[in-house]
Amino acid sequence: MKQSFESGMIVYHPVLLVATYNHDDTPNAMLVAWGGQAGENQIALNLLPHRTTENIVANGGFTVSCATQEFLASCDYVGIVSGDKVPDKLARAGFTVTPSKRVNAPIIDQLPVAFECKVVELKEEFDGTRVVGEVVGMEVDDSVLTDGKIDLSKVHPVVYDNVMNCYRSVGPNIADAYSIGKKFQ
Ligand SMILES: Cc1cc2nc3c(=O)[nH]c(=O)nc-3n(C[C@H](O)[C@H](O)[C@H](O)COP(=O)(O)O)c2cc1C
Repeated sequence: MKQSFESGMIVYHPVLLVATYNHDDTPNAMLVAWGGQAGENQIALNLLPHRTTENIVANGGFTVSCATQEFLASCDYVGIVSGDKVPDKLARAGFTVTPSKRVNAPIIDQLPVAFECKVVELKEEFDGTRVVGEVVGMEVDDSVLTDGKIDLSKVHPVVYDNVMNCYRSVGPNIADAYSIGKKFQ
């Protein structure tokens, strides 16, 4: 029997680390779970008013790195404290950065996959700012590539469970997509 609820939500979100420069060119980052791929080559983020939100509007660019199991505590930390209150929060978390070659934003050295995004849309909606960035480049560590492609089994990404308020690992490849269902054709 199904239980009926008037409201509620379970959508498991990819955990993304969004990095920007502050107005004084120091690096900052926040954690974003309400985000993901929008179009073929776009990433959308739903942001409340944060230091990062202001930086994205001012700079027109940002980077998005996949949070990993290895650096989960560091990623969580940048989602707990604001760069407004703790200006060196990246260093405290053990992160260092390298400037992106393609957008005005830093790339987190310790995270293996980073997408470089140019802002193409800013919209005030759902009590926040919806940011859409076009991916204009990607920086990926050799260590997570298999035959030149990003291999999630090497990245060790995590998802955010907003019901249990916890991070969950992404598991192994269990079936080929657009294929396993063909048995019902
Ligand atoms: C698991 C998790 C997910 C989060 N997802 C979002 C999000 O999708 N949008 C948002 O505006 N804030 C989100 N936050 C909160 C920001 O990451 C947090 O307020 C951060 O400290 C802002 O940093 P800043 O002020 O230096 O930009 C999340 C925090 C955590 C821990």
